[in-house]
Amino acid sequence: MLSQALPVVSLPGSAIIDGMPIVGHGIDIVETTRVQRMVEEHGQRFLDRVFTPAEQAYAARNPKRQYEHLAGRFAAKEAVLKVLGTGWRGGIAWTDVEVIKEASGQPKIVLTGECARIAGTLEIERWHISISHIETHATASAIGLRGEGK
Ligand SMILES: CC(C)(COP(=O)(O)OP(=O)(O)OC[C@H]1O[C@@H](n2cnc3c(N)ncnc32)[C@H](O)[C@@H]1OP(=O)(O)O)[C@@H](O)C(=O)NCCC(=O)NCCS
Repeated sequence: MLSQALPVVSLPGSAIIDGMPIVGHGIDIVETTRVQRMVEEHGQRFLDRVFTPAEQAYAARNPKRQYEHLAGRFAAKEAVLKVLGTGWRGGIAWTDVEVIKEASGQPKIVLTGECARIAGTLEIERWHISISHIETHATASAIGLRGEGK
């Protein structure tokens, strides 16, 4: 209902979570069948280029939804890249962005290589990541937070 739309509030400076300014937010959506096709066409070579051994093992635990889990991780990697603001460029490997799991099932992001270096230059010290998937699509949202007091 447009007449009851909330007013737009503009805040000075960055939005803050847990005292940490938001550096950026990225989202992505991936077709599950696209990932499945790549695996069927390129096999282990594609899996190893894009997903870490732990990510592959997690997805393989549930063969029925394996491609959903992989597509969710694919979307998470793209979402993180959007926060870093660089796009896929020389020196960046897909496996530089790894999705790991807390005991609760909550996903966490671990960066290595060039992605870790870029995140360091942006002073990103914490990530919030959320993944969701259905049979046909997976989506992910990533927020990068700058270290407290920076
Ligand atoms: C988390 C939950 C809301 C996911 O919703 P869903 O509609 O079933 O599934 P979605 O496709 O939207 O989301 C799945 C993704 O949610 C994420 N997820 C799982 N558990 C999560 C949690 N505790 N917190 C945040 N995200 C979580 C995962 O990334 C998962 O994808 P993945 O397995 O490929 O990594 C649902 O599974 C739930 O309520 N789980 C209960 C959590 C819980 O109680 N865990 C046990 C505690 S010991």
